Amino acid sequence: MNIEDVFTLIKGDMERVNHLIQTSLHSEVILINQISQYIINSGGKRLRPVLVLLSANAFASAKHSSANKHQITLAAVIEFIHTATLLHDDVVDESELRRGKDTANELWGNAASVLVGDFLYSRAFEMMVGVESMKVMNILSHSTNTIAEGEVLQLLNCNDASTTQERYIEVIHYKTAKLFESAAQLGAVVTAQDETTEQAMAKFGMHLGTAFQLIDDVLDYSADSEELGKNVGDDLAEGKPTLPLIYAMAHGSDKQAQLIKEAIEQGGLDQIEAITQAIETTGALDYTRDIAREEADLAIAQLANIPNSNYKEALITLANFSVDRSF
Ligand code: IPE
Ligand code: IPE
Ligand code: MG
Ligand code: MG
Repeated sequence: MNIEDVFTLIKGDMERVNHLIQTSLHSEVILINQISQYIINSGGKRLRPVLVLLSANAFASAKHSSANKHQITLAAVIEFIHTATLLHDDVVDESELRRGKDTANELWGNAASVLVGDFLYSRAFEMMVGVESMKVMNILSHSTNTIAEGEVLQLLNCNDASTTQERYIEVIHYKTAKLFESAAQLGAVVTAQDETTEQAMAKFGMHLGTAFQLIDDVLDYSADSEELGKNVGDDLAEGKPTLPLIYAMAHGSDKQAQLIKEAIEQGGLDQIEAITQAIETTGALDYTRDIAREEADLAIAQLANIPNSNYKEALITLANFSVDRSF
């Protein structure tokens, strides 16, 4: 199975999710419609809603007649929360390209991007209330709060060359893995699985999300901008101490270490060539990819007790895609 097969498997559900996304974006305020339509319709891989749907379908049975409706709502809710974080993240990171198009901050400015991000967050909460489950509210409110903590933690690490691998991993657990964790867990919640199964799915999502962000940080140094839909080098420009830099600094020559230290502290792309070379000669990208592979394997191991099905196979494919992807 490849990633296209995964999308084919849940095509019907995904159409319902996309329809709900469209109808839920509506606002009487024209600028909100413009910006939210722009970012939501720019594409995006929709991996988090896919995860909700696969997880729910892996457990679906006739017993849970309302599960199907809820899984569609929650898949849309998760994509709204994700998109809100992207609107805010691009302001903070001063990014100019997202999903192959100019970012909203580039077109409408920072204020409008932040405020429409807030609109998407709060719309997500309005929708989630409709599920009428305290448990769902608990998971998603906590998750949203954790992402905010992660982005602030990252702000503290920015321009700090003493950031360790441990502190870096902590940030990605918060800012990225948590939402994948919630997505996978919610599939088990809406189909009323027992606590052990629910926790296994939560861990699956957490490890998958960690692998996903590790590779995002690799791609920021190695991808083709056009294929990725984002500019490469954004992390270096900002002085963000991601694992490729942390590793190259620890394993490069004194000169390379000094160069990377200064680049983290000052930000900017002046030294990008020498730094890319340091990353290559130290094997920093392979090291980061290896850790991502380990995380994906840990994710897959969580599925051991889940009944075999096409959906389970698709979950495994999604975990592998997180590591092998180039976009
Ligand atoms: C981007 O996520 C933000 C990260 C957590 C790295 P995606 O790569 O899933 O973004 P879209 O939704 O496909 O644009
Ligand atoms: C992920 O971090 C951002 C969020 C989880 C909101 P990045 O800053 O690396 O994401 P991209 O590269 O801009 O998509
Ligand atoms: Mg960013
Ligand atoms: Mg990135």
